[in-house]
Amino acid sequence: KRVAVLISGRGSNMNSLISAAMHPDYPAEIALVLANKPDAGGLAKAEEMGIPTAVVDHRDYKGDREAFERAVDEILRTAKIEIVALAGFMRLLTPFLVNAWKDRMLNIHPALLPSFKGLATHERALDEGVKIHGATVHFVSAEMDDGPIIAQGAVPVLDDDTPATLAARVLSVEHQIYPKALALVASGKARLRDQRVATGAADA
Ligand code: GRF
Repeated sequence: KRVAVLISGRGSNMNSLISAAMHPDYPAEIALVLANKPDAGGLAKAEEMGIPTAVVDHRDYKGDREAFERAVDEILRTAKIEIVALAGFMRLLTPFLVNAWKDRMLNIHPALLPSFKGLATHERALDEGVKIHGATVHFVSAEMDDGPIIAQGAVPVLDDDTPATLAARVLSVEHQIYPKALALVASGKARLRDQRVATGAADA
């Protein structure tokens, strides 16, 4: 399956997806990396790894979110993309793109959804005093951080954790679960049944 990874920043999750997809038996190929910012650090990394890149600068669409998304969608279709993986892509999507890629668009969120939707998840986890935190890969739905869950990874919260130390521990779990989750979707193993995802694997 041809996959596009959408980024806004350094692209560490993009990096782990590209590395995983290099294995000959991986059921997906990263065919494109697209950023909404021309200075996204991940672009250089993708080019280094021989992956075609594209930039659609959201600032060129002066707040017309749907126009921005139509430009993105055009590039995805031209590249014959079949699955979209949002990875540190910091733009809220309108129903236009969400519906255009229904059940074919994934996102990774740095928390155990449905806990801690939105931003600053590690600070909030520490403020709440949770003992277990983690990351979630889910299908993208019209509501932010709310689609059917495909995979999760848990990490302990330590007494002396700061947002930075906790974020680093979660990020390393993100890098493990995203390649697995994408493989489940690309291989057809992840089946959507009434808004819940059966993956056929105990540990997705
Ligand atoms: C990560 O915490 C990820 O969960 C969130 O964006 C952050 C940066 O991701 N979606 P990356 O390093 O750009 O992949």
